[in-house]
Amino acid sequence: MDQINERIRLPRLRERLMSPEAAAALFKDGMTVGMSGFTRAGDCKAVPFALAERAAHEPLRITLMTGASLGNDIDKVLTEARVIARRIPFQSDPTLRRQINAGEVMFIDQHLSETVEQLRSGQIAPVDIAVVEATAITENGGIVPTTSVGNSASFAVLAKKIIVEINLTMPTGLEGLHDIYIPTYRPHRLPIPLISPDQRIGLPYIPVDPEKIVGIVITQKADSPSNVLPPDAETNAIAGHLNEFLAHEVKAGRLSPALQPLQAGIGTIANAVLHGMLDSPFQNLRMYSEVLQDSTIELIDAGRLSFASASSITLSKGLYERVLNNLEHYKSRLMLRPQEISNHPEVIRRLGLICINTALECDIYGNVNSTHVGGSHMMNGIGGSGDFARNAHLSVFVTKSIAKNGAISSIVPMVSHVDHTEHDTDIFVTEHGLADLRGLAPRERARQVIENCADPLYRDLLRDYFMRASRRGGHTPHLLEEAFAWHLRFNQEGSMLGKQPHAQAAAPALAEA
Ligand code: COA
Repeated sequence: MDQINERIRLPRLRERLMSPEAAAALFKDGMTVGMSGFTRAGDCKAVPFALAERAAHEPLRITLMTGASLGNDIDKVLTEARVIARRIPFQSDPTLRRQINAGEVMFIDQHLSETVEQLRSGQIAPVDIAVVEATAITENGGIVPTTSVGNSASFAVLAKKIIVEINLTMPTGLEGLHDIYIPTYRPHRLPIPLISPDQRIGLPYIPVDPEKIVGIVITQKADSPSNVLPPDAETNAIAGHLNEFLAHEVKAGRLSPALQPLQAGIGTIANAVLHGMLDSPFQNLRMYSEVLQDSTIELIDAGRLSFASASSITLSKGLYERVLNNLEHYKSRLMLRPQEISNHPEVIRRLGLICINTALECDIYGNVNSTHVGGSHMMNGIGGSGDFARNAHLSVFVTKSIAKNGAISSIVPMVSHVDHTEHDTDIFVTEHGLADLRGLAPRERARQVIENCADPLYRDLLRDYFMRASRRGGHTPHLLEEAFAWHLRFNQEGSMLGKQPHAQAAAPALAEA
């Protein structure tokens, strides 16, 4: 009981302790629910499962909003129980993905900075119940989040009712890691007063009216560990090209050896690229990102990174334990903020970030598809990549040049879905090299992308496409009847190269054409 008293410091709230089943009984069919959780960190670990059980006996369909993706198979369990009718703004679960692509779940794929802005201005349905994982509740009823902030602060502030899940496995030392700042209402909104990644501008807890807290549930489950793969030869090569380019920028006087604050996207490739900075000449780095992955902790431990601000920490098991068991050491180097602040265009532009995000495919002119396989099938969502790419000091996209053992080229004539336009992409990097697109017109961009980034398997095909398109003319030359032929060929024949490896005459390098 001492532990409960220590965690729930406003005594009258202790009377609201209840079972997950009793909390689940507070939900009604058709409600909009805002849950904590951002890239597997800080998600609620009891109420979602009780909701799934309830749905086995009675109709219970909800709109589920979160910060980003959830761990502990929550999206899977809720999808299988048919609880999720509508999902906002990001996911990465294979079962949910299948239902989205079957048209069974309506998915609203949003810039991660935007969801709570739309809620605040009444543009999307209000949150009926917020469910927030917490380390503690303060003397004044403030909610101290755990390993992510995500959208939890505004969900709790804007919701009609709040259910708090106190997770006893989260160390109380997490208190003080968070900085909760919520923008004021328009039309008299004040500038966000953040001019450095390590600056504290808000409160260490989510300020709510304690009377809105209608239930408190105790949990003891850890976050799911990160599922990124370790670096490999290709991702090491990508990191090497990017480090070489950044070192060149330092030499040219356009960047200092501390670079600019870094943002790195989710997933295996972005994590590996940041990991590659361990072998770079850069010092005193800082991050202003949305997710901190293993690479952040490795850079801090190596003395390369002095401070990292984000909205969540998603780590593999060993590093998760190391950080949670040594919070006093890491807390002075880390800060977690609401995702609308970590991803806010105003702040990103002011701080001048170097943003490194991952493309599924990009085209010869610099448009990027980060979300839709084959132009139609949702992978995860745009996440924060658009928030960062549009407003970056330097917008870098990384990808392996081929996927599925070479059956897919990640560099195509025209992307089958556009998330980031040519106007938002400065640098492309694959394992083969780097294309610096700054200050280049479309025809110049195409030469850089094809010659520096495409896999040799596809380079001649791209040269051939570009040269024939160029002869037809245009500012951004295309052969519209062929622009998606590669995707069609993959669908029909299982490879963008077709059944037979292409036997056409090798096209000359574009510099010679
Ligand atoms: N067409 C089809 N599939 C492709 C592909 C393409 N052009 N390129 C890659 N893939 C497949 C890979 O084969 C792999 O499939 P598998 O899981 O079956 O092995 C999968 O996509 C993931 O690719 P991987 O190379 O492992 O990259 P990743 O883990 O770094 O993820 C994204 C890449 C694009 C899916 C991921 O970064 C993402 O969802 N990005 C959008 C959100 C975002 O950028 N947020 C950033 C702000 S934090």
